[in-house]
Amino acid sequence: MGSNGIRIGLIGVAHRAAMAQNLDKDDRAKIVAGADTSWAFLDQFRKQYAHNSPAVTNDWRKLVERDDIDAVGVFTPDYLHAEPTIAALEAGKHVYCEKPMAIKTADCDAMLAAWKRSGKHLMVGMNMRYMDAFLAFKDIIDSGQLGEVKAVWVRHFVGFGGWAYFHDYRANADMATGLLLQKASHDIDMIHFLTGRFTKRVVAMGALDFFGGDKPDDLVCTECDEKDTCTDFSDRPGKAQCCFRKGVDIEDHSMLLMDLGDVRANYVQCHYATETTRNYLVIGGDGMAELTGNKITVKTQKANNTKARARARFATATYDVGPAKGGHGGADPEICRAFLDLILDGKQPHVTPEAGRMAVAVGCAATESIRGGNKPMDISGVS
Ligand SMILES: NC(=O)c1ccc[n+]([C@@H]2O[C@H](COP(=O)([O-])OP(=O)(O)OC[C@H]3O[C@@H](n4cnc5c(N)ncnc54)[C@H](O)[C@@H]3O)[C@@H](O)[C@H]2O)c1
Repeated sequence: MGSNGIRIGLIGVAHRAAMAQNLDKDDRAKIVAGADTSWAFLDQFRKQYAHNSPAVTNDWRKLVERDDIDAVGVFTPDYLHAEPTIAALEAGKHVYCEKPMAIKTADCDAMLAAWKRSGKHLMVGMNMRYMDAFLAFKDIIDSGQLGEVKAVWVRHFVGFGGWAYFHDYRANADMATGLLLQKASHDIDMIHFLTGRFTKRVVAMGALDFFGGDKPDDLVCTECDEKDTCTDFSDRPGKAQCCFRKGVDIEDHSMLLMDLGDVRANYVQCHYATETTRNYLVIGGDGMAELTGNKITVKTQKANNTKARARARFATATYDVGPAKGGHGGADPEICRAFLDLILDGKQPHVTPEAGRMAVAVGCAATESIRGGNKPMDISGVS
């Protein structure tokens, strides 16, 4: 460790890597190097962290080899998480790796093995575990006021599905597996977090209903005859492939039934919705709690009910968690702080590498269920 704290290198320096500013703002760490295939992004990065005179390279392996770096942040596309994470751990660095941990369960297992061999810390960016609203929701569940939790419903409607996921590699199964990883790994993980259990079995249905089609794979929005009328026009560099191209081969709508042992859960995702909502409903023997945005409603059974008083049987309480400070519902600064706490103080974070792996394992198995005729899939645990 340098005299100015933990020296961190970023692999993938644009877009999501912006959250790493939280690490640099912390007195205990500084961003000292970056790797990216884009020199334009590296130039921006160099300016952003000019106060640290960062080293830059377009080969992430060279960054990993540096002996003046203590930790690495992996912010590359999903298909490029496993390789740099394993290489960094093997080079003796701590690693923060964005979610999903990888696009295949076997890759997650190889990452877990490298982590255990290395004696270094590995943290997976399941940042919903640090969102104020979800922490408040978990407190309510853990307080026991709902009784024993038995059922969970999660509905996730994405009103910007085309914009975020169908203009680039994210819509291609070989580079993403599907949106049950890129998007749902958060919610699958949240179901695990809220119930304190991992999924044992999953069965899923889904389809590509709206996106995909017969447009050529090399068509970009700015050159399209329909650009003035299209619902999903994009002119962003590198993120403007036609959403209705032939090569799109992932689902834009899916439904999962999950067996977590003594708890059952249902997860629904739709990427062509006309609104963006995450709605969580948890039911226990004594009550239910619902979370939408920052608002939580809790309904609990009152004691000493009689039939005559049926209308007054339930007590209702509502909570507004309020606007969060910091990106992703307040989660980004907190998960960065937790990464440094883990390295410096050994303080265990809300998320373990095993939890990151289990979210991928369920997302992969559910995708296989959809593509294999909706067959139920057993989820292997961490060995
Ligand atoms: N936890 C969250 O809330 C959250 C939010 C957004 C994105 N993410 C995750 O963060 C990751 C990055 O997302 P993004 O939207 O920034 O992706 P992106 O496609 O914009 O790529 C990120 C960066 O990686 C660089 N890159 C690509 N290939 C590279 C290579 N071979 N070597 C070095 N750099 C390379 C790109 O140039 C870019 O700067 C993804 O895994 C995504 O799932 C997580």
